[in-house]
Amino acid sequence: MYCTRKVTDDIIWVGGNDRRLSVFEGVYKCPTGVSYNSYLIKDDKTVLMDTIDRAVSTVFFENIEHELDGRPLDYAVIQHMEPDHSATLAELVLRHPETVIVCNAKLAAMIRQYFDFDLDSRLMLVKEGDTLSTGRHTLNFVMAPMVHWPEVMVTFDSDKGILFSADAFGTFGAINGALFADEVDFWHDCLDEARRYYCNIVGKYGPQVMALLKKASGLKINMILPLHGYVWRAGLGDFIDKYVHWASYEPEEKAVVIAYASVYGNTANAAEILSCRLREKGVPTYMYDVSMTTPDYVISAAFKCSHLVFASTTYNAGIFVRMEELLHDLAAHNIQNRKAAFIENGTWAATSGKLMRSIMENCKNITFMESTVSLKSSVKPEKLEDIEALADEIAKDFTKPVHYSPAAEDAVETRIDPVAFNKLSYGLFVLTARDGDQLNGCIINTAQMLTDNPKRITIAVNKANLTHDMILKTGEFNVSVLTESVPMSVFEHFGFQSGRNTHKFISFEDFEMAQNGIPYITAHTNAFFSAKVVAAADNGTHTLFTAEVTQAEVLGSEPSVTYAYYFAHIKPKKKPVETQKAGWVCKICGYVYEGDELPTDYECPICKHGPEDFERIEAAPAPKGHKWVCEICGFEYEGEELPADYTCPLCKHGVEDFKQVY
Ligand code: FEO
Repeated sequence: MYCTRKVTDDIIWVGGNDRRLSVFEGVYKCPTGVSYNSYLIKDDKTVLMDTIDRAVSTVFFENIEHELDGRPLDYAVIQHMEPDHSATLAELVLRHPETVIVCNAKLAAMIRQYFDFDLDSRLMLVKEGDTLSTGRHTLNFVMAPMVHWPEVMVTFDSDKGILFSADAFGTFGAINGALFADEVDFWHDCLDEARRYYCNIVGKYGPQVMALLKKASGLKINMILPLHGYVWRAGLGDFIDKYVHWASYEPEEKAVVIAYASVYGNTANAAEILSCRLREKGVPTYMYDVSMTTPDYVISAAFKCSHLVFASTTYNAGIFVRMEELLHDLAAHNIQNRKAAFIENGTWAATSGKLMRSIMENCKNITFMESTVSLKSSVKPEKLEDIEALADEIAKDFTKPVHYSPAAEDAVETRIDPVAFNKLSYGLFVLTARDGDQLNGCIINTAQMLTDNPKRITIAVNKANLTHDMILKTGEFNVSVLTESVPMSVFEHFGFQSGRNTHKFISFEDFEMAQNGIPYITAHTNAFFSAKVVAAADNGTHTLFTAEVTQAEVLGSEPSVTYAYYFAHIKPKKKPVETQKAGWVCKICGYVYEGDELPTDYECPICKHGPEDFERIEAAPAPKGHKWVCEICGFEYEGEELPADYTCPLCKHGVEDFKQVY
């Protein structure tokens, strides 16, 4: 029986899930299965976007026939010839001899390599920039070589802002009926599998992925439809940001991967001791026994973390076989920009350290720690010093979180005004940090008192913020509590621009330095806190920092601004869509300049970006039907009427929280 889902009113997911596949591509374990996505566009013309793996072909063809409902299949766009997407192409041609196959020249050559059917009589060759109009959709073909094979192209529906992204933005794991990433807890449940998919499937081709991301940055993308995993219609920026990290080989986390190969447990013992010493110094670690964990998982962890430690026994005068396999695999996947260290072991001739290093020397921009540990058979007392020295050297790259100590509390107690804690609400705050000479700040909405003795607070910070990275590195921050008089310009200043390309404290005067040398905000605030991090918990998009307060001062008596107050009284109301005039929109902050010509020296009044960051918008056509917007999360529903039992697919609120726009 067919099993389909609507992506939009006229784009249908016609794919399938395979939970019996034990190893994808014969290599990668699939404990949660894999999805093979294919999409049918039902426009004036019908278009199938890629076919599917043979394993789920039965339901695939039932899906197509059900959705076509007797219509011909006008086109099949083939974006990638790896058989997990193309294996059923020949059967499709048998079932639908009328179908025109749309692909580029490299794809056509591969189709001929895989199949014997007559391609030429049904072939439409396309190249970069070519388009295909199907009625309401205009498909633009964008070449994406090596993401993941050389023939790959992606397709951008410029009318709807939909990117059919081929393998890019895919995820391991069956999708279990939840087609959209926002229907699951993606950042908690799926990010690791998305990373493992990326690193192992296209990790080697970071420059090519960056080239595709660069092309994509010029497009207004509303949805991403990959060939594996979930469809993205919300939070695209966060996932694209992950891709930027992975494709540029920049670590997502400051943390240490310790991968060890140990035949009788002594090398494992050394690895465990190192991890303990690192943890005592506040350094996060991830440990893997390479005899038990396949390389793809360790490679994924290595793409995530900043520091790599490899510990291996010497085996047949070489590296233990599983470790050797991992290191070659890591090098083959182009791992770069990391710090590495080694622990070797050998009962009579330890050579594994040197040999492991020689493999990693083939990788770009790997910095090797000066400290090494060389064991003979087992860890002896004198070797503990070597392990400690390695831990010390690694820990120098990390900020030691300040752990609670009674002495420290006594020393700072007199600077903490307990009344300041009464100012905390579900409100809005300026979070500030210092890294050397660099000062920065951002807006957060979560700062709460955790315990009274010791005085601790928690803050949640989006990982995309530079302030987040600065706090991870330095372990210190200030929180300034904003009040109801705060103007929108403060949110624009700290929230709508990045400290990566502007110095937020050069053009801002309303601040003083706290005793920790970090600024706090003196206008439209009623309190501030200085704090030192004692724990950082990964929560997907955000890190939850638990911190010990070292200074707390009351700055005024005006009420704290609450989140609700901000939305009701401060945040500008969106213009109704039907009044949208033609003009230019700032891609950085969303500011709209109305007018046909954007002055060449124009500067965005909100985020100060220039004309290169604006893109043209056309006047909105007269709307058909009606639109409602969820006042909780901003999700928009279009249709003739909002069903009485409708639930927002993003935030799960009901119709009472929807407001009609037109
Ligand atoms: Fe999902 Fe490169 O195939």
